[in-house]
Amino acid sequence: MSCHKSYITTPIYYVNDVAHIGHAYTTIIADTLARYARLIGQDTFFLTGTDEHGQKIEEAAKARGKETQAYADEISKTFKDLWDDFDISYDKFIRTTDADHKKGVQKAFTAMHKKGDIYKDSYQGHYCISCETFFPELQLVDGEFCPDCGKATSVVEEESYFFKLSAYEDKLLAWYDANPDCILPKSKRNEVIRFVEGGLNDLSITRTSFDWGVKLPEDFNDPKHVMYVWLDALMNYLTALGYGTDEKNMDFWPARVHLIGKDILRFHAIYWPAFLMSLDMPLPKHIGAHGWWTRNGEKMSKSKGNVVNPKEVADAYGLENFRYFMLREVPFGGDGDFSQRALIDRINSDLGNDLGNLLNRLIGMSGKYFEGRVESDLVSKYYQAELDEVDASLAKLEPMLFEMQLHRYLEELWRPLTVANKAIDMYQPWTMIKEGKTEETMALNGLIATILAKVSLMLHAVMPQTTSTICEALGFEITPESFEEIIRNGETLAPFTTQKREPLFPRIEEELLVDERQEILKKEKEEKEAKKAAQKEKNKDSKPAEGIALIGIDQFFETSLKIGMVVEAEEVPKSKKLLLLQVDIGEDEPRQVVAGIKEFYSAEELLNTQVCVVANLKPAKLMGMKSEGMLLAAKDKDGLCLIRPEKPKTIGTPIS
Ligand code: MSP
Repeated sequence: MSCHKSYITTPIYYVNDVAHIGHAYTTIIADTLARYARLIGQDTFFLTGTDEHGQKIEEAAKARGKETQAYADEISKTFKDLWDDFDISYDKFIRTTDADHKKGVQKAFTAMHKKGDIYKDSYQGHYCISCETFFPELQLVDGEFCPDCGKATSVVEEESYFFKLSAYEDKLLAWYDANPDCILPKSKRNEVIRFVEGGLNDLSITRTSFDWGVKLPEDFNDPKHVMYVWLDALMNYLTALGYGTDEKNMDFWPARVHLIGKDILRFHAIYWPAFLMSLDMPLPKHIGAHGWWTRNGEKMSKSKGNVVNPKEVADAYGLENFRYFMLREVPFGGDGDFSQRALIDRINSDLGNDLGNLLNRLIGMSGKYFEGRVESDLVSKYYQAELDEVDASLAKLEPMLFEMQLHRYLEELWRPLTVANKAIDMYQPWTMIKEGKTEETMALNGLIATILAKVSLMLHAVMPQTTSTICEALGFEITPESFEEIIRNGETLAPFTTQKREPLFPRIEEELLVDERQEILKKEKEEKEAKKAAQKEKNKDSKPAEGIALIGIDQFFETSLKIGMVVEAEEVPKSKKLLLLQVDIGEDEPRQVVAGIKEFYSAEELLNTQVCVVANLKPAKLMGMKSEGMLLAAKDKDGLCLIRPEKPKTIGTPIS
């Protein structure tokens, strides 16, 4: 097992506002990497926390009539509580108002000064409080507004200490050059290089016009200065390991990755490495900059009232489903739009149909043919080609994760699930068992179990609880040891017995959050329906009333209705409406039924449930597939529901 050290960080979040999905996104990526690093046996330290100093925070507290520290305490707690609620596996939650942090920042200031990188001068410039950044006049929009956030800047003229950033231009360029993947995605690295090549000014690193910040070390004897909030904040990555105080965790440095949003890349990819060079410290291995989440194409902001609250989403749709969605939906580095439709589709399709249904198929098949027993020792005898295909996909995964290509990681991880689902369709265990191919059928179940086990292990960092539940059903626990055995050494699963269980991903039918777009769609639908109803009413007046044709009892009995059990269920690819079912109605073989109910039921939830089947319909072909029956259902304006027996009945019982 590898014993590398992995130090993984999120940005520390400003306490001027509560968390939104952008914050949750960074934290979830970092948590996933940290969990994976731990699972592969790496000694891991995962840091998050809050950034509490600076003019912006001071003003936010004032605006709410609160004392600054009390205000910072309050908001910092909301972040910590949220991460605890989200089961974020951080090792330390740092606050820049922590005494140890402040000591560490002062120590760094002294060291940079000793190195000759800090000098005192006076400064005149345009300062954006929202971005906590000075901008040269040339960069301002209309001579006044911040080029980053668009807010008005103010002219600041004050005495200041400066960091000789200009002296690090060449060294920074050499670092980018020698480390092609120091900034990920790589396209972002080019942006940074172009910026540095444009020339760097020295950086003002103290302020005198307010005092909510870390004071200079006492021997500077300059009490009116507080440190620039970005110097203070960036230093958290070192002080959290004990820099300047108790250095017991300093061997985690350098960071494996600092995860950040693209808006704060310049601070992390230019200032931070320059500070570290000044301190003679090694540089981080990667800086991973993700894109922005928007809402229906717009930037999220309080004034627009379109900020997505991560807790609300997780409560409504499930925390792990939300994690999966965020990581799968958007290529790392690109911007993503948050839409509930997309989230629901991912849950119903990727998670419900591809993953959840596969587990249910295994439980159904093993239960029906082998009293729940699953043995995997003969898998390679019959299904080596499938195993090879699965292993080829799995081998590509780890590098993708540490290059932050999480969407590709998850996409590739779904291929083995396709292999498994296809194998069932191709080998048709219900036929094999009838033909007496017991060993092959057992091995097929073993193959499905093996694929589920491998996928769960590789998915564990993204969906810890769900995958633990799956592996429990497969008779083992997810640990670094089981990872080593099953993923690294390709060991065979020990025999186990399955049991019936609730679906892991019940189909989601309706949006549970108030979403403006969905509201609009709903209104449109209502309008359409109202129009339709009005039209119907009109037609009714112009047509003779339609009577219901009466039939005799004999005619009714011409229809053969039977109780059936769905023993196989899957989606028909490329069809919005159809599910392909195998329904046991007490005959030699299950009937194949193609049912137009996919919008209302997932394959997963239908499996092993009873239905009412019209058993003497002439077979029909739907999308090229033979259908040998029909399910009874009722549909009204709220949707469709199947008609089922009130209590389970013997399969094949006639309905009269
Ligand atoms: N305090 C600084 C970071 C200091 S790190 C030494 C800061 N804080 S922040 O709270 O404003 O933002 C923290 C992170 O959230 C940033 O990485 C930022 O990119 C991210 N996001 C804020 N809004 C976002 C979205 N709408 N979408 C995705 N991430 C966004 O900056």
